[in-house]
Amino acid sequence: MAGSEFWASLTHRPTQLKFLLFLCVVCIVCLLVFDGKINYQWDEMLFSKDSIGNETTEVAANATARESNASENLLDMATKCSPMQYILFLKTHKAGSSTVTNIFFRYGDSRDLSFVLGDDTLIGWPTRFRLGQALAFDGTRPNFLCSHTRFNKKTMNHLFPKDTSRYITIVRNPVAQFESIFNYMGMGEVYGLGKDPTGSLKAFLKKGIEFKDITKTRSSRLVRNPMLFDLGMDYKFYQNAGAVKEYIASLEKEFDLVMISDYFDESVVLMKRLLCWEFDDILYVKSNERFDKERGEVSEDVKENIRRWNKADMLLFEHFNQTLWRKIEMEGEGFYNDLAMFRRKKAELKDLCFTNETSNQLMYGNKYAKMMTLKPNLPPETKVKCERMTRTENSYLAYLRTKRSSKLKGIFSAVPNEDDQEKVSWDVASDFKYDPV
Ligand SMILES: *[C@@H]1O[C@H](CO)[C@@H](O)[C@H](O)[C@H]1NC(C)=O
Ligand SMILES: *[C@@H]1O[C@H](CO)[C@@H](O)[C@H](O)[C@H]1NC(C)=O
Ligand SMILES: *[C@@H]1O[C@H](CO)[C@@H](O)[C@H](O)[C@H]1NC(C)=O
Ligand SMILES: *[C@@H]1O[C@H](CO)[C@@H](O)[C@H](O)[C@H]1NC(C)=O
Ligand SMILES: *[C@@H]1O[C@H](CO)[C@@H](O)[C@H](O)[C@H]1NC(C)=O
Repeated sequence: MAGSEFWASLTHRPTQLKFLLFLCVVCIVCLLVFDGKINYQWDEMLFSKDSIGNETTEVAANATARESNASENLLDMATKCSPMQYILFLKTHKAGSSTVTNIFFRYGDSRDLSFVLGDDTLIGWPTRFRLGQALAFDGTRPNFLCSHTRFNKKTMNHLFPKDTSRYITIVRNPVAQFESIFNYMGMGEVYGLGKDPTGSLKAFLKKGIEFKDITKTRSSRLVRNPMLFDLGMDYKFYQNAGAVKEYIASLEKEFDLVMISDYFDESVVLMKRLLCWEFDDILYVKSNERFDKERGEVSEDVKENIRRWNKADMLLFEHFNQTLWRKIEMEGEGFYNDLAMFRRKKAELKDLCFTNETSNQLMYGNKYAKMMTLKPNLPPETKVKCERMTRTENSYLAYLRTKRSSKLKGIFSAVPNEDDQEKVSWDVASDFKYDPV
């Protein structure tokens, strides 16, 4: 029977109408039962996610009670996230990383979270990070590593498991970054080219240095491709295009976010979204900025030579600049609303805390940097909040070490050791499994 005929005949045949109604009722009942099942399964899935152990029977018993709330929970999961508090920040040199570290210090300190600390500003740098370089842990899993370390995948992955931690670092346009490092570290003098920031840089770039001279002093390792050095690449591969590209690709896998100093606010807002933090958590004032007189003049030729001498860092920067903008694009409109909101809040805070003047601040050893001047007569609570933003890294570190050792008193403390035989097994990987003849 054709459809139209069926519908036409319906009006005349009460039995068929009844049959159709019956079918409808059956369908509705089926839907209800089926829907209930789905809810139930979702519910169990949601629940078992955060349950541990043997509570299955209780889950089943509670499932019906929770059924009505299941769709709410799903919505929650989709729209809410919980703040990430396990963060490895690979602190690169002269790329705005002190400002990021200050953000982490404030966040962690105010919540009594733990930091991986060393007995110096640098933890083991310039050697690759090893557990033994850090001060003893208190037996709990550390929340932050944000001091200067050199990247070491295996050890860091052990301390900050990838699936439950976030890996962040920051890079900067190499032209600006290299000039900054060269003069900050006094490389002109190290290589016998004098103190003049402009002249010594230009002379250095005439021919660069021999491979063997890169280890002349501790910090002279930063005299070529400083960012890739901090990120753990071996300098013997600096001139190997294939190795550099592979290494950059491996960093892309390793880091959840590579911030770009040249787009600092954008980077910080991306970080906020990645970590599910609040605006208040990411407010900052620039830290460890040098005075203009310490800047060298950089002519076009010198800029071009910086790019050529640091070709590997150029590729690194270009790669992650692209990645950053791709990520921003993927965040959609909401990102720019957040960015505007963040900048507004930042300006408000600056107004609240600081005058327009800058002064000298002793940062590391004999290094001074610009510091914002606090407004006089701030209410005590505001004053503390404002001061923390300009607190130097070393002052924070000293304070965190004391805080940590008082926490440690009487508590079991273990010094994890990579060579600890109990934890080492051939079976961590099977690629080169021993297979004798
Ligand atoms: C459930 O786990 C607890 C401890 O986690 C244990 O004491 C108990 O025996 C377990 N019950 C069953 C039925 O497995
Ligand atoms: C089940 O519900 C009871 C009462 O509402 C509650 O005390 C219990 O913790 C619940 N169990 C689980 C596993 O959620
Ligand atoms: C359902 O949600 C309401 C409000 O969010 C809550 O008060 C209630 O305890 C929840 N019921 C169950 C069974 O989880
Ligand atoms: C970074 O990438 C953006 C987008 O592709 C581009 O417009 C910008 O010029 C790049 N910045 C630098 C400093 O290269
Ligand atoms: C501080 O800066 C603001 C805006 O940039 C300006 O309006 C104000 O006059 C400045 N104050 C002083 C004391 O320079």
